[in-house]
Amino acid sequence: MALAYSEKVMEHFSNPRNVGEIENPDGVGEAGNPKCGDIMKIYLRVKRNVIEDVKFKTFGCASAIASSSMATEMIRGKTVDEAWDLTNTAVAEALDGLPPIKMHCSVLAEEAIHRAINDYREKHGFDVIPMKDYGDEHEVCPV
Ligand code: FES
Repeated sequence: MALAYSEKVMEHFSNPRNVGEIENPDGVGEAGNPKCGDIMKIYLRVKRNVIEDVKFKTFGCASAIASSSMATEMIRGKTVDEAWDLTNTAVAEALDGLPPIKMHCSVLAEEAIHRAINDYREKHGFDVIPMKDYGDEHEVCPV
């Protein structure tokens, strides 16, 4: 059975923004869902505490790719602290929703951004922020 994806999800999946890598990034973070095997990597360029550029590489489902695209659009130009506050729910809302069994795919974006920010913080002498335990949020879906 085909899932009902919003037009925005389909648009970001078909035409994802910010795909690629940043050479010598200020921060890089990877999140993987051990249950489905999908992986998302986020690269940050930070200048004066502002995310000047952000790229991603995602090996994953349509929802994971659309979430990566939308999340990178949402944190570009934000301060590092503002970017930390981006939740997977906000990403899913900006995509006009995800099917309930695909909500977990957006968690990869939140987690990868947190890991990239902590990598940036560690490399630049700031304290690392304690990470939430994402273990329970990784699910496997039938499609
Ligand atoms: Fe694995 Fe979407 S992230 S199914």
